[in-house]
Amino acid sequence: MKILVVGSGGREHALCWKLAQNPKVEHILCAPGNGGTAEIGENVEVRDDDIPALVSLARQRDVDLVVAGPEMPLVLGLENALRQEGIPCFGPNAYSANLEGSKAFSKNVMADAGVPTAPFRVFDEFDSAVAFVKEKGAPIVVKADGLAAGKGVVVAQTEEEAIEALEDMMVKLSFGAAGERVVIEEALKGEEASFLAFCDGTNYALLPSSQDHKAAYEGDTGPNTGGMGAYSPAPILPKEKYAETAELCIKPILRHLAAKGEPFKGVLYAGLMYTENGPSVLEYNVRFGDPECQPLLMRLETDLLEIMFACIDGKLDQLDVVSTPQTACGVVIAAEGYPGSYPKGMEITGLADADAMEGVKVFQAGTKLENGKTVTSGGRVLCVTALGDDLAAAQKKAYEAVDKVHFDKSYYRRDIADKGLKRLK
Ligand code: AMP
Ligand code: GLY
Repeated sequence: MKILVVGSGGREHALCWKLAQNPKVEHILCAPGNGGTAEIGENVEVRDDDIPALVSLARQRDVDLVVAGPEMPLVLGLENALRQEGIPCFGPNAYSANLEGSKAFSKNVMADAGVPTAPFRVFDEFDSAVAFVKEKGAPIVVKADGLAAGKGVVVAQTEEEAIEALEDMMVKLSFGAAGERVVIEEALKGEEASFLAFCDGTNYALLPSSQDHKAAYEGDTGPNTGGMGAYSPAPILPKEKYAETAELCIKPILRHLAAKGEPFKGVLYAGLMYTENGPSVLEYNVRFGDPECQPLLMRLETDLLEIMFACIDGKLDQLDVVSTPQTACGVVIAAEGYPGSYPKGMEITGLADADAMEGVKVFQAGTKLENGKTVTSGGRVLCVTALGDDLAAAQKKAYEAVDKVHFDKSYYRRDIADKGLKRLK
């Protein structure tokens, strides 16, 4: 079987690594891929948002399954285009991908489906958006409707900050058309967790809970990033609560979309915030999180290829999706300056030493192979992931492995999973 994985991050390296464990998988293509995916399969220089090129690659190379890593190709209709060609795709169609592609769509679906979420209003017009901010006061949250590379959410502590964000999005069009429409919502307070489920349109199979670390520096300080580390399970969402949490945030969405004739197939990711009044959904993603994917796939025991086909074929109820009870912890090593500008081309050493440790896997993100060497090519460079019998053991092993890997001008957070450990005490 031939598989095409779309994307180039640590998540995509993890997807390739896991899929390659099925003996039926003969060849994995990754578009555009990175240094890690190049070691598993073949990188092809096709952008992850070039739908016609991805479809023609899948057709020309006789691919049996396309797996979408990031959201952009799904929002742009990759699944729809592949379906027309009769090529199976893991990931939802364009309609359902709007759960992530449009904040207004997503909030309206949540409201219709009865999912707990912060009270909100949608605005297309700057003056009325400003008037609403003045009426509600700060803190208040301003969100660009469309995809904005993770930068479209401003949690404003003052009215001025909120109005500045509105100006940026709606007047200066800093995010292009993505900011012409905005969602303004109540600011919630609490700890966040990620809850992901495989979905086949009707049935779902839950993955264990996980937690990302979005801030660049220790103690959740510094600028917002794509995620500096993750671990699973997250003590804030223990196993005993999975079923009731799914009733709250997974099941109603599946039911709602199925009733619209747009069954959701793929991974549904609920970003939760645990407020004083219980969990509230901040956002949905229509894919694996990065870096949550890395610890989740380290824990997944059921064959990923089988799960993906069960999702596509609507047969998830016939499969037992199991994860090891062990804990996984992933620490991202980034290039100095990320999420701002950063240097590239630094040689990475020690990868094999870290990978040789039992229960450790180094997932590569911003890397490429150059003359037999692995060098950095992005901001988030590696996600060093380890399994342990409990969170303390997984964290300890992950940092031992981090110590073995080196490149110039690197940085990482030393407190990944501390929040979870504190909760366990
Ligand atoms: P989103 O893309 O909607 O998840 O937003 C990105 C981040 O912004 C979340 O992970 C939260 O940290 C924060 N955020 C989003 N919505 C809210 C809210 N209503 N209240 C407080 N923080 C929020
Ligand atoms: N880790 C958060 C995300 O992938 O959106």
